Amino acid sequence: MDTFQVRLSPIDEERFGIRTARAMIVVPEDIARMLEFCQSHQVVFLIARCPVAKLHTVQAMEQQGFLLMDTLLYYVRHLTKSPIPEDRAQSLVRPIRPGEEEQVREIAAQSFQGYYGHYHADPRLDRTKCDEAYVSWAVRSVTSREVADEVLVAEIDGRLAGFATLRRNHDQEGEGVLYGVAPWAQGRGIYRSFMIQSMEWGKAQGFQRMLYSTQVTNVAVQKVWVRVGAEVSHAYYTFHRWFDEAGSSI
Ligand SMILES: CC(C)(COP(=O)(O)OP(=O)(O)OC[C@H]1O[C@@H](n2cnc3c(N)ncnc32)[C@H](O)[C@@H]1OP(=O)(O)O)[C@@H](O)C(=O)NCCC(=O)NCCS
Repeated sequence: MDTFQVRLSPIDEERFGIRTARAMIVVPEDIARMLEFCQSHQVVFLIARCPVAKLHTVQAMEQQGFLLMDTLLYYVRHLTKSPIPEDRAQSLVRPIRPGEEEQVREIAAQSFQGYYGHYHADPRLDRTKCDEAYVSWAVRSVTSREVADEVLVAEIDGRLAGFATLRRNHDQEGEGVLYGVAPWAQGRGIYRSFMIQSMEWGKAQGFQRMLYSTQVTNVAVQKVWVRVGAEVSHAYYTFHRWFDEAGSSI
Protein backbone atom coordinates (compact mmCIF):
# COMPACT_ATOMS: atom_id res chain seq x y z
CA MET A 1 0.00 0.00 0.00
CA ASP A 2 1.26 3.48 -0.90
CA THR A 3 1.23 5.46 2.36
CA PHE A 4 2.80 8.62 0.97
CA GLN A 5 0.63 11.74 1.28
CA VAL A 6 1.42 15.36 0.47
CA ARG A 7 -0.85 18.37 -0.06
CA LEU A 8 -0.70 22.13 -0.04
CA SER A 9 -2.07 23.70 3.16
CA PRO A 10 -4.05 26.86 2.32
CA ILE A 11 -4.94 27.43 5.99
CA ASP A 12 -1.29 27.56 7.07
CA GLU A 13 -0.42 29.65 4.00
CA GLU A 14 -3.09 32.20 4.85
CA ARG A 15 -2.02 32.34 8.51
CA PHE A 16 1.73 32.65 8.07
CA GLY A 17 1.85 34.22 4.59
CA ILE A 18 4.16 31.45 3.39
CA ARG A 19 3.48 28.77 0.75
CA THR A 20 3.03 25.67 2.97
CA ALA A 21 2.56 21.94 2.40
CA ARG A 22 1.84 19.02 4.74
CA ALA A 23 3.10 15.47 4.23
CA MET A 24 3.10 12.01 5.76
CA ILE A 25 6.38 10.25 5.09
CA VAL A 26 6.78 6.56 5.90
CA VAL A 27 9.61 5.14 3.79
CA PRO A 28 12.87 6.89 2.76
CA GLU A 29 11.80 6.81 -0.91
CA ASP A 30 8.92 9.17 -0.03
CA ILE A 31 11.41 11.96 0.67
CA ALA A 32 12.45 12.40 -2.98
CA ARG A 33 8.80 12.35 -4.08
CA MET A 34 7.93 14.93 -1.49
CA LEU A 35 10.85 17.20 -2.42
CA GLU A 36 9.76 16.99 -6.06
CA PHE A 37 6.23 18.03 -5.06
CA CYS A 38 7.56 20.97 -3.03
CA GLN A 39 9.77 22.14 -5.90
CA SER A 40 7.01 21.97 -8.49
CA HIS A 41 4.56 23.81 -6.18
CA GLN A 42 7.07 26.46 -4.94
CA VAL A 43 6.62 25.31 -1.34
CA VAL A 44 8.69 27.31 1.17
CA PHE A 45 7.58 25.66 4.42
CA LEU A 46 6.82 21.95 4.83
CA ILE A 47 5.22 20.26 7.86
CA ALA A 48 5.98 16.53 7.64
CA ARG A 49 4.96 13.69 9.96
CA CYS A 50 6.68 10.31 10.20
CA PRO A 51 5.72 7.29 12.36
CA VAL A 52 8.19 7.05 15.27
CA ALA A 53 9.00 3.41 14.48
CA LYS A 54 10.39 4.37 11.04
CA LEU A 55 13.84 5.34 12.28
CA HIS A 56 15.61 4.83 8.94
CA THR A 57 13.18 7.30 7.39
CA VAL A 58 13.69 9.71 10.32
CA GLN A 59 17.47 9.56 9.88
CA ALA A 60 17.16 10.13 6.12
CA MET A 61 14.95 13.17 6.86
CA GLU A 62 17.55 14.51 9.32
CA GLN A 63 20.19 14.25 6.60
CA GLN A 64 17.93 16.32 4.35
CA GLY A 65 17.64 19.20 6.83
CA PHE A 66 14.32 18.34 8.46
CA LEU A 67 14.10 19.70 12.03
CA LEU A 68 12.16 17.91 14.78
CA MET A 69 9.36 20.08 16.21
CA ASP A 70 7.22 17.76 18.31
CA THR A 71 6.13 14.18 18.99
CA LEU A 72 2.44 13.51 18.62
CA LEU A 73 1.23 10.65 20.81
CA TYR A 74 -2.08 8.80 20.23
CA TYR A 75 -4.15 6.97 22.81
CA VAL A 76 -7.20 4.83 22.15
CA ARG A 77 -10.17 4.19 24.46
CA HIS A 78 -12.16 1.06 23.56
CA LEU A 79 -15.77 1.79 24.39
CA THR A 80 -17.03 -1.77 24.70
CA LYS A 81 -14.20 -3.48 26.61
CA SER A 82 -14.71 -1.69 29.94
CA PRO A 83 -17.45 0.58 31.36
CA ILE A 84 -17.19 4.35 30.94
CA PRO A 85 -16.41 5.88 34.38
CA GLU A 86 -18.93 7.99 36.21
CA ASP A 87 -18.77 11.76 35.67
CA ARG A 88 -18.48 13.34 39.12
CA ALA A 89 -17.74 16.89 37.94
CA GLN A 90 -19.38 19.98 39.43
CA SER A 91 -19.66 21.64 36.02
CA LEU A 92 -22.38 21.07 33.43
CA VAL A 93 -21.05 19.63 30.15
CA ARG A 94 -23.43 20.04 27.20
CA PRO A 95 -23.43 20.60 23.42
CA ILE A 96 -22.56 24.15 22.35
CA ARG A 97 -25.44 26.52 21.54
CA PRO A 98 -25.66 29.09 18.73
CA GLY A 99 -24.10 32.41 19.77
CA GLU A 100 -21.41 30.88 22.01
CA GLU A 101 -18.61 31.02 19.38
CA GLU A 102 -17.07 34.17 20.84
CA GLN A 103 -16.74 32.58 24.29
CA VAL A 104 -15.01 29.55 22.74
CA ARG A 105 -12.64 31.94 20.94
CA GLU A 106 -11.74 33.62 24.25
CA ILE A 107 -11.17 30.32 26.07
CA ALA A 108 -8.99 29.03 23.21
CA ALA A 109 -6.97 32.27 23.20
CA GLN A 110 -6.33 32.01 26.95
CA SER A 111 -5.71 28.28 27.22
CA PHE A 112 -3.47 27.89 24.13
CA GLN A 113 -1.34 31.00 24.63
CA GLY A 114 2.30 29.91 24.30
CA TYR A 115 1.27 26.25 23.83
CA TYR A 116 4.09 23.82 23.01
CA GLY A 117 2.99 22.29 19.71
CA HIS A 118 5.05 22.16 16.52
CA TYR A 119 4.20 25.73 15.48
CA HIS A 120 5.51 27.25 18.71
CA ALA A 121 8.63 25.05 18.56
CA ASP A 122 9.74 26.71 15.32
CA PRO A 123 11.59 29.99 16.01
CA ARG A 124 10.90 31.14 12.44
CA LEU A 125 7.15 31.36 13.00
CA ASP A 126 5.56 34.46 14.51
CA ARG A 127 4.44 33.73 18.14
CA THR A 128 1.14 35.58 17.86
CA LYS A 129 0.25 33.71 14.68
CA CYS A 130 1.15 30.40 16.38
CA ASP A 131 -1.30 31.19 19.20
CA GLU A 132 -3.89 32.20 16.61
CA ALA A 133 -3.59 28.79 14.89
CA TYR A 134 -5.29 27.08 17.84
CA VAL A 135 -7.85 29.84 18.26
CA SER A 136 -8.96 29.72 14.62
CA TRP A 137 -9.01 25.90 14.74
CA ALA A 138 -11.37 26.07 17.75
CA VAL A 139 -13.60 28.62 16.02
CA ARG A 140 -13.68 26.64 12.75
CA SER A 141 -14.68 23.58 14.80
CA VAL A 142 -17.72 25.47 16.03
CA THR A 143 -18.69 26.88 12.64
CA SER A 144 -17.88 24.01 10.23
CA ARG A 145 -19.07 20.41 10.21
CA GLU A 146 -16.03 19.57 8.07
CA VAL A 147 -13.79 20.34 11.07
CA ALA A 148 -15.85 18.87 13.93
CA ASP A 149 -19.08 16.87 14.21
CA GLU A 150 -19.81 17.96 17.78
CA VAL A 151 -18.54 20.61 20.18
CA LEU A 152 -19.15 20.26 23.91
CA VAL A 153 -18.82 23.09 26.39
CA ALA A 154 -18.54 23.14 30.17
CA GLU A 155 -20.53 25.67 32.15
CA ILE A 156 -19.96 26.85 35.72
CA ASP A 157 -22.52 29.26 37.23
CA GLY A 158 -23.74 30.23 33.76
CA ARG A 159 -20.24 31.02 32.46
CA LEU A 160 -18.48 28.93 29.80
CA ALA A 161 -15.34 27.36 31.27
CA GLY A 162 -14.09 25.06 28.49
CA PHE A 163 -14.72 23.39 25.15
CA ALA A 164 -14.10 20.01 23.52
CA THR A 165 -14.28 19.30 19.78
CA LEU A 166 -15.25 15.82 18.55
CA ARG A 167 -15.06 14.21 15.15
CA ARG A 168 -16.35 11.06 13.47
CA ASN A 169 -13.42 9.33 11.72
CA HIS A 170 -15.43 6.41 10.33
CA ASP A 171 -18.20 3.97 11.37
CA GLN A 172 -16.09 2.42 14.11
CA GLU A 173 -14.10 5.36 15.44
CA GLY A 174 -14.53 8.85 16.83
CA GLU A 175 -11.82 11.31 17.82
CA GLY A 176 -11.53 13.87 20.59
CA VAL A 177 -9.62 16.62 18.80
CA LEU A 178 -9.12 19.94 20.59
CA TYR A 179 -9.78 20.71 24.26
CA GLY A 180 -9.31 23.89 26.22
CA VAL A 181 -10.22 24.84 29.78
CA ALA A 182 -10.09 28.53 30.80
CA PRO A 183 -7.26 29.21 33.26
CA TRP A 184 -9.71 30.33 35.99
CA ALA A 185 -11.49 26.95 35.78
CA GLN A 186 -8.50 24.60 35.53
CA GLY A 187 -7.76 21.94 38.15
CA ARG A 188 -11.44 21.26 38.95
CA GLY A 189 -11.84 18.08 36.89
CA ILE A 190 -13.49 19.71 33.87
CA TYR A 191 -11.11 17.99 31.49
CA ARG A 192 -11.84 14.60 33.06
CA SER A 193 -15.52 15.35 32.59
CA PHE A 194 -14.95 16.22 28.91
CA MET A 195 -13.15 12.90 28.45
CA ILE A 196 -16.05 10.94 29.94
CA GLN A 197 -18.67 12.88 27.96
CA SER A 198 -16.67 12.42 24.75
CA MET A 199 -16.74 8.66 25.35
CA GLU A 200 -20.49 8.80 26.00
CA TRP A 201 -20.89 10.70 22.73
CA GLY A 202 -18.82 8.06 20.89
CA LYS A 203 -20.88 5.26 22.41
CA ALA A 204 -24.13 6.98 21.40
CA GLN A 205 -22.78 7.25 17.82
CA GLY A 206 -22.17 3.48 17.83
CA PHE A 207 -18.36 3.73 17.70
CA GLN A 208 -16.12 0.94 18.99
CA ARG A 209 -13.42 3.34 20.11
CA MET A 210 -12.33 6.95 20.61
CA LEU A 211 -8.94 8.28 19.61
CA TYR A 212 -7.07 11.06 21.44
CA SER A 213 -3.75 12.72 20.62
CA THR A 214 -1.39 15.23 22.16
CA GLN A 215 2.24 16.28 22.36
CA VAL A 216 4.27 13.72 24.31
CA THR A 217 5.12 16.55 26.73
CA ASN A 218 1.46 17.21 27.62
CA VAL A 219 1.50 15.17 30.82
CA ALA A 220 -1.69 16.71 32.28
CA VAL A 221 -3.99 15.20 29.65
CA GLN A 222 -2.22 11.84 29.53
CA LYS A 223 -2.68 11.41 33.29
CA VAL A 224 -6.41 11.81 32.79
CA TRP A 225 -6.50 9.50 29.75
CA VAL A 226 -4.85 6.68 31.70
CA ARG A 227 -7.21 7.17 34.65
CA VAL A 228 -10.30 6.86 32.42
CA GLY A 229 -9.01 3.69 30.76
CA ALA A 230 -7.35 4.86 27.53
CA GLU A 231 -4.25 3.02 26.27
CA VAL A 232 -1.22 4.28 24.41
CA SER A 233 -1.46 3.40 20.71
CA HIS A 234 1.01 5.01 18.27
CA ALA A 235 3.05 8.17 17.70
CA TYR A 236 4.43 10.46 14.99
CA TYR A 237 7.35 12.86 14.88
CA THR A 238 6.52 16.25 13.39
CA PHE A 239 9.30 17.83 11.33
CA HIS A 240 9.56 21.22 9.66
CA ARG A 241 11.62 21.80 6.53
CA TRP A 242 12.31 25.26 5.12
CA PHE A 243 13.28 25.69 1.48
CA ASP A 244 14.35 29.34 1.46
CA GLU A 245 17.54 29.09 3.55
CA ALA A 246 21.15 28.89 2.38
CA GLY A 247 22.02 25.31 1.41
CA SER A 248 18.38 24.27 1.23
CA SER A 249 18.07 24.02 -2.54
CA ILE A 250 16.10 21.01 -3.72
C1 LIG B 1 -4.90 20.40 29.88
C2 LIG B 1 -6.19 21.02 30.33
C3 LIG B 1 -7.28 20.76 29.27
C4 LIG B 1 -6.59 20.37 31.67
O1 LIG B 1 -7.86 20.88 32.08
P1 LIG B 1 -8.37 20.80 33.60
O2 LIG B 1 -9.87 20.93 33.58
O3 LIG B 1 -7.62 21.73 34.44
O4 LIG B 1 -7.99 19.30 33.97
P2 LIG B 1 -8.43 18.48 35.27
O5 LIG B 1 -8.92 19.40 36.34
O6 LIG B 1 -9.37 17.38 34.80
O7 LIG B 1 -7.05 17.90 35.75
C5 LIG B 1 -6.30 17.03 35.02
C6 LIG B 1 -4.96 16.79 35.63
O8 LIG B 1 -4.04 17.66 34.98
C7 LIG B 1 -3.45 18.52 35.96
N1 LIG B 1 -3.31 19.83 35.34
C8 LIG B 1 -4.29 20.68 35.00
N2 LIG B 1 -3.77 21.79 34.45
C9 LIG B 1 -2.44 21.61 34.43
C10 LIG B 1 -1.36 22.38 33.97
N3 LIG B 1 -1.54 23.59 33.42
N4 LIG B 1 -0.11 21.86 34.14
C11 LIG B 1 0.09 20.66 34.70
N5 LIG B 1 -0.91 19.89 35.14
C12 LIG B 1 -2.15 20.35 35.02
C13 LIG B 1 -4.38 18.52 37.14
O9 LIG B 1 -3.69 18.87 38.32
C14 LIG B 1 -4.86 17.10 37.12
O10 LIG B 1 -3.90 16.20 37.65
P3 LIG B 1 -3.99 15.75 39.20
O11 LIG B 1 -5.35 15.12 39.36
O12 LIG B 1 -2.84 14.77 39.33
O13 LIG B 1 -3.83 16.96 40.02
C15 LIG B 1 -6.04 22.55 30.55
O14 LIG B 1 -4.96 22.77 31.41
C16 LIG B 1 -5.81 23.32 29.25
O15 LIG B 1 -6.73 23.83 28.64
N6 LIG B 1 -4.51 23.37 28.82
C17 LIG B 1 -4.09 24.05 27.59
C18 LIG B 1 -4.59 23.36 26.31
C19 LIG B 1 -4.36 21.87 26.29
O16 LIG B 1 -3.33 21.34 26.70
N7 LIG B 1 -5.36 21.15 25.74
C20 LIG B 1 -5.33 19.68 25.63
C21 LIG B 1 -4.72 19.22 24.36
S1 LIG B 1 -5.75 19.55 22.94
